[in-house]
Order: sequence, then C-alpha cells, then structure tokens
Amino acid sequence: MKRGRKTVAVIGAGNVGATCAFSLAEMKIGNVIMLDIFEGFAKGKALDMSQAGQILNYDGVITGTSSYEDIAGAEVVVVTSGFPRKPGMTREDLISKNASIITEVGAGIKKHAPDSIVIVVTNPLDLMTYHMWKATGFPSERVVGQAGILDSARMTHFVAKEVGVSNEDVQAMVLGGHGDTMVPLPRYTTVSGIPITQLLDEDTIRKIGDRTAGGGGEIVKLLEKGSAFYAPGNAAAIMAEAVIQDRKRLLPCSAYLTGEYGMNDVYIGVPVILGRDGVERIIELDLEKNELESLQRSGAFYKKQLTDVIGWR
Ligand code: NAI
Ligand code: 2OP
Repeated sequence: MKRGRKTVAVIGAGNVGATCAFSLAEMKIGNVIMLDIFEGFAKGKALDMSQAGQILNYDGVITGTSSYEDIAGAEVVVVTSGFPRKPGMTREDLISKNASIITEVGAGIKKHAPDSIVIVVTNPLDLMTYHMWKATGFPSERVVGQAGILDSARMTHFVAKEVGVSNEDVQAMVLGGHGDTMVPLPRYTTVSGIPITQLLDEDTIRKIGDRTAGGGGEIVKLLEKGSAFYAPGNAAAIMAEAVIQDRKRLLPCSAYLTGEYGMNDVYIGVPVILGRDGVERIIELDLEKNELESLQRSGAFYKKQLTDVIGWR
C-alpha cells in the first residue's frame, strides 16, 4: 500500500465489486483492495485494473487478496460478496445463502478493520445491512446500505427519457426498501428544480414508478445470468467517495431508524448526509399521508422478515 493514501476495501470481486473497485481507482481517491474467497479471481482483476493505470492515468495501488489481514487500515469497506438473483427470484430468496456470507465477512471486518465505515451492497439489501450491523457490532451510523442511489438513478433515467432532457438535469428520490415495496417520490423528483408532477401526467409518472421498482428484475430477465452491476457498482463507489472525502453528500441510503418516519429498529432507505463518520444525519422529509404510509409499509415488511426469517430479535 502507498503510505499516506486512503484505502477502500471491497469484499467480493465479482461483477459489482470489481465495477466499484474500478470506479474508485478512476476517481483517484486512494488505494483499493479487493478481497474474494477466490484469491486468484481478486488478484487477477486487480492486476488487470492496475495495468489500465497508464491508459486511464491513475496511480493508486489496486491489489487482490483472500486474507482479511490485508484489509487492515481500510477507512471504508464495501461489501458486495454474495449471490445475485436468477430470473424469477426475488431479492428475498437470497436470504439464507447471503446471510451466512455476511456473518463471515462481518467477523473479518470487525477484527481487521474495526474503525471502518461499512457500505453493504449484498441483497436482500436492507436485511443484509441490518445483519452486518449485528455481525460487526459497530455503531449503526458506521453501517449503511446502498440501494437508493441506484433506484433513484434508474428513476432519473426513465424521467429523462420521458421528458426528453439530459440525465444530468434530473434529480429523483426513491426511498424505502430495495425491493417491490420501494417508494419512488414524484413530488421530490425534479428536472432542474421543476417537480415532475408539473411536467408529466399522472399515468406516465405511475408507469415510471413501476418500472423503477421493477428495474433490477428487468435487467435480471434480460441478462439471464446474474444481475445489474455497472450502475450498482458505481453507486457504491459514490458512497465510498462521500465518506473518504468527507463530502457530506445528501443521498438516499439504507440507514438504521430510531424513531424517524415513525419507525424503529429497522434499516430502510431514507435521505441521509454521508460523510467521514458515515451516516451523519437522517433527513426527515415532510411526506404526505400516502407517501408516509408507503414508506412505513416498506419498513414493516422488512422488519417482519428480520423477525421471521433471520431471527434477529
Ligand atoms: P457476483 O457473483 O458477480 O460476485 C459475488 C462475489 O462474491 C463472487 O466473486 C464470490 O466469489 C464472492 N464471494 C462469495 N462468498 C464470499 C465470501 N464469503 N467472502 C468473500 N467473497 C465471497 O455477484 P454480483 O453481481 O457482484 O452481486 C453481488 C451481490 O450484490 C449480490 O447479492 C447481488 O444481489 C447484490 N446486488 C445489490 C445491489 C444493490 O443495489 N444493493 C445491486 C446489484 C447487486
Ligand atoms: C438490482 O436492483 C439486483 O438489486 C439488484 O439490480
């Protein structure tokens, strides 16, 4: 590792993990270490990315490993290890296999990167983030899940296409769990400050919301093998960057609630300020009754899964 540089560890060097690592390398924010149970897989990808350094003009160190000792000193750990969906599966179908992976990875992080901020990507996202919080025993602000940035980016893309504007001018807000219960918020989705409720009719907005909620499944069906990774990997990298560079970005992330939005003891997607200390603040939006009910329904769904399936409580 080059001294004096920040380090991000990425657990899982598969599609999402490698995309995230490559994005971080291109951001030039420091060293990146990928850890996978298949050592050669992580090392091979790291070498390939390192050899792109001259072409893409970055000089951080990218390494691969299967040993947790090597993540010592990482300020941020992005967790992507776990099975992706196959066509016809829901994210919740992955619970049992991925929960045991999170238990193992959480123990490794706790021992070797005890001061890190952990960004969970593994599905089912909100449940695995809760599970990681328990497995590490870290304060809840140091364990956060990636979903809302991806879901909002998907909504952004669909709005941009429908209105006929650049993606850059659209800001979407999708809260709730990363699954069928997610909550796209048209009132908080704008094109250069103009709410989309002034630009699109109700039926079009509803269709955009539905396509956003089914956005991951649409890609799983097309790929037939594996799930989305370009947008997810980059979304996780944006979160790591926000922490490493203490950017105080306001982003929708899966965060632990202690009364916000009338919910307790559950991880769910809400707007947060992300900085050096992880989730530095949860923003409570002034939601209308139906919006709040949808968010609470989503939270209740995951809370029930935590009790019924994972047995955390
Ligand atoms: P992948 O199969 O390409 O990569 C997973 C990697 O994890 C593999 O390289 C595997 O060897 C590694 N792995 C498995 N067990 C491990 C362990 N115990 N320790 C270390 N590494 C281990 O899968 P992909 O596409 O990268 O997806 C990863 C996870 O991210 C899946 O659970 C997927 O559902 C989830 N995902 C979540 C998204 C989100 O928005 N939260 C978006 C996209 C994917
Ligand atoms: C997605 O939304 C599979 O969660 C992943 O693409």
